[in-house]
Amino acid sequence: MTQDEMKKAAAYAALEYVESGSIIGVGTGSTVNHFIDALKTIKGSIKGAVSSSEESTKRLRAYGIEVFDLNEVTELSVYVDGADEINPYNAMIKGGGAALTREKIVAAVAKKFICIVDNTKNVDVLGGFPLPVEVIPMARSYVARELVKLGGTPIYRQGVITDNGNIILDVHAMKISEPLKTETAINALAGVVTNGLFANRGADVVLVGTPEGVKTLK
Ligand code: A5P
Repeated sequence: MTQDEMKKAAAYAALEYVESGSIIGVGTGSTVNHFIDALKTIKGSIKGAVSSSEESTKRLRAYGIEVFDLNEVTELSVYVDGADEINPYNAMIKGGGAALTREKIVAAVAKKFICIVDNTKNVDVLGGFPLPVEVIPMARSYVARELVKLGGTPIYRQGVITDNGNIILDVHAMKISEPLKTETAINALAGVVTNGLFANRGADVVLVGTPEGVKTLK
């Protein structure tokens, strides 16, 4: 089974958590693209979606699924999204696709976070995947210096501007054994919009695509 087939299996398994008549939160990335393809098969039964990126919005609209502005919506039953890494406590690193801030906002509103991953994303300790940090452009150098003090090696993601007009610093070589603390410490730096640690709001259900089938972790 290829990695993409495992992503697809996890994505289709998430349909079980989609309530009919609801508006659902939709994340970003290659696993979520499979989920949007899956949504197409049941599109008549949902009211629509709130999307975490321009990329996902385009794909949803191409299938005729209505995309709502988050400000028009008071409740999201679920948020379905992938992750770059996930630990045994369901804390994640996200933002490989630079959509972390909108992802965090939509996840905050949703009652349940359903994380869809292939089994290469499971780790014991977060930090093997560089941690993305979205930064206001004028604060780039200052924030980079502060991230070094926190023990990381930040690298400017060249040529990438987020959907919010900001830049991304990817923090390499940081072993994140206390994700809650690290998430809070980085978010406290002036100029940081948010970072890609989802520990304060982790996943409620994790669907892992494996060669033996989809495993559900709670
Ligand atoms: C997007 O910004 C990310 O948070 C994605 O959820 C994450 O990068 C997973 O992407 P894939 O599904 O493409 O592996």
